[in-house]
Amino acid sequence: MTADEITGFIAEASLAPSVHNVQPARWRVEADGATLFEDGSRRLAVADPRGHDALISLGASAEGFRLAAGRAGYGVDTELLDWPAIGCLRPIARLRLTLGSEADPLAAIVTSRASHRGAFVPVGDAAREAASALVADDATVLASPKLLLEAGRQLDAAGWTFMRDDGFRHELLSWMRLSRRDPNWSRDGLNAAAMAMGRMEATGAGLVLGHLFSPLASAGLAKPLLAEGSRIAKDTAIVLFHRFDGEAPFTSGAHFYRLWLRIEAAGFGAAVLAALADDAEANAWASEVGRVPAGHRLVNAFRIGRRPAGRTAPRARLPIGEILVSTTA
Ligand SMILES: Cc1cc2nc3c(=O)[nH]c(=O)nc-3n(C[C@H](O)[C@H](O)[C@H](O)COP(=O)(O)O)c2cc1C
Repeated sequence: MTADEITGFIAEASLAPSVHNVQPARWRVEADGATLFEDGSRRLAVADPRGHDALISLGASAEGFRLAAGRAGYGVDTELLDWPAIGCLRPIARLRLTLGSEADPLAAIVTSRASHRGAFVPVGDAAREAASALVADDATVLASPKLLLEAGRQLDAAGWTFMRDDGFRHELLSWMRLSRRDPNWSRDGLNAAAMAMGRMEATGAGLVLGHLFSPLASAGLAKPLLAEGSRIAKDTAIVLFHRFDGEAPFTSGAHFYRLWLRIEAAGFGAAVLAALADDAEANAWASEVGRVPAGHRLVNAFRIGRRPAGRTAPRARLPIGEILVSTTA
């Protein structure tokens, strides 16, 4: 194996999802694979102080590396690291390539997967049935229109709990790229195109989440303006992702990515609905109606549906040179 080959696997790993698209993964190329670090400067101090979502994101990146290596015929042995940080780089895992592995069919989906935050095409029972086929040991599907309607209500209530926190909103805004003139538009965070917002909507979102939040909230207008739950009722289904209690979030992250790829392999587009899992009340509701098994916890959720025809927004990602590190531990 060559350093160029390993760098190619890392480039593919960088296509994995990450919370707010902060892209916390940093990589050091080794003779036999790579070491994965978390860049602590990308940690969401308000939304993710303990680094749970960062670890989900890092686990997804490691799975991306494994899928890319598998296509080239390598297996990957993963060792979790508990070493002290080097500056803002926290060692997470050592990934060693081994010889002789078969390509995973999900590897073929990696380059086309992307969050789809716009509307989906209205569908009939056949698509709802296809969605039900996504049920697995760690995935439950809610497809009845009544449940989708209630899920929308739960999401709006949960979203408001987070959004009325000034720190949460400011942090979210700092990762939003609302104008194409933003120098980070194509690099990281959530740009307006990826959030399926036109220019006016993006300007409006900036005002509602920023300067106008307090007056609008006092007038009772901020909550309805930020509510997005009603669109869920028109989606095909919600997929609940649950893993056993006590599993390392890094491991759950690999399975989270695999479920997303499975959803896309079944012909659906998806967007994450983290608030359904992150808010205690919404989580309790979804766990109950989704019959999340005892001993499992609801980790995250997706809204899914058929994508309308047309181009998907280009992915915002840091250039490979910025995610490679050469630090010595
Ligand atoms: C732990 C985690 C939580 C996420 N939460 C949300 C969310 O609540 N809403 C959303 O639209 N996307 C969410 N995402 C998706 C990311 O924003 C998305 O993966 C990132 O912007 C990169 O874009 P891509 O998925 O198109 O590659 C989440 C991703 C992860 C890993």
